[in-house]
Amino acid sequence: MNSYRLAVIPGDGVGVEVIPEGLRVLQRAGEVTGSFKFATTEYPWSCQWYLEHGRMMPEDGIDRLTDSDAIYLGAVGFPGVPDHISLWGLLLPIRKGFDQYVNLRPIRLLEGIEGPLRNRKPEDINIAFVRENTEGEYVGMGGRFRQGEPDESAIQVSMFTRKGVERVARYAFNLARERRRMVASATKSNALNYTAVMWDEVVAEVGASFPDVELTKYHVDALCARFVTAPDLLDVVVGSNLFGDILTDLGGALQGSMGLPASANLNPERRYPSMFEPIHGSAPDLAGQGVANPMATIWAGAMMLDHLGEIEASGLVMQALEFVAKHGPRTRDLGGVATTRELGTAVADAIGRAADAN
Ligand code: NAI
Ligand code: MG
Repeated sequence: MNSYRLAVIPGDGVGVEVIPEGLRVLQRAGEVTGSFKFATTEYPWSCQWYLEHGRMMPEDGIDRLTDSDAIYLGAVGFPGVPDHISLWGLLLPIRKGFDQYVNLRPIRLLEGIEGPLRNRKPEDINIAFVRENTEGEYVGMGGRFRQGEPDESAIQVSMFTRKGVERVARYAFNLARERRRMVASATKSNALNYTAVMWDEVVAEVGASFPDVELTKYHVDALCARFVTAPDLLDVVVGSNLFGDILTDLGGALQGSMGLPASANLNPERRYPSMFEPIHGSAPDLAGQGVANPMATIWAGAMMLDHLGEIEASGLVMQALEFVAKHGPRTRDLGGVATTRELGTAVADAIGRAADAN
């Protein structure tokens, strides 16, 4: 039996409510398959922790996570602490510190769930989004000048490196080989005449060594429209940090609720731990009520199992999630009345049945 060291950071708001359900499902998957167990260490780093300690995590926070096999994160950010503090104090240092340069976000409409697009079925919406996760627009360089004065100014630098674009593009092309062999690259090289032009060149160079994969580049504004008008023509989409951030919320919305989309922050070379989380934030409007949808977190758990090589367990979790999507119960965001806990329990129960059926 494999044993994995799992660092758990529930974070803020509904993060604290959905993570226990994700863990419940992971644990059940381990019991049913008998192939692994988790040794979990929970870290209370959050906005609450910030209010008590003046930082989002301890100075050696990254070091403490280094030995884990994976990190499972809920959400960070809450009213009372500015969002740029919480993001830059916890999430971004982990993504950058552990060189998690691929942010993989599956966008799939599950059977039984009605998405916002009329007449679109699950087979029409199945996109693997590969977002660059360590540089680009979120590299964090710049400054504010003459703050508060009438001639105040601010500069935010975007930085794209050949290595950074190359490696994320390569990941996308390799992924496309396991799918429908199409890569759409999000760009804006008409207006961004330095960074996006280099992005296009490097993506095309990488694409040249994948002659069996079709590459199409889209300006990001047109790609937004395409997500809505022709999602069935998209397979793998690769984009920069900012473009990927925005497009995947749009993609998440196509799934029917922000309670569904999941993401993996991957260090594909496995030199450092990878991190798995729902795309959504701490949902302050729902926090404390026990009604948030844990499906995105559970889905992220399935991605984690896949990354750890627990392929059977990952498949069972997805089967169970799809069963519950189809047959219920449902949380409020999907028109139901189930609690977070009831949903987690329903998915956990469905794992046993999925294993029996296989
Ligand atoms: P949000 O994702 O928290 O909420 C957006 C909408 O989706 C809200 O209507 C919310 O009720 C709904 N929603 C989110 N998660 C849900 C769930 N599990 N079940 C049902 N409905 C759900 O985004 P928002 O409001 O922009 O941000 C709130 C806080 O979260 C901010 O502090 C923000 O910085 C932080 N945030 C953190 C992220 C992370 O940790 N990765 C990502 C996005 C936001
Ligand atoms: Mg986002």
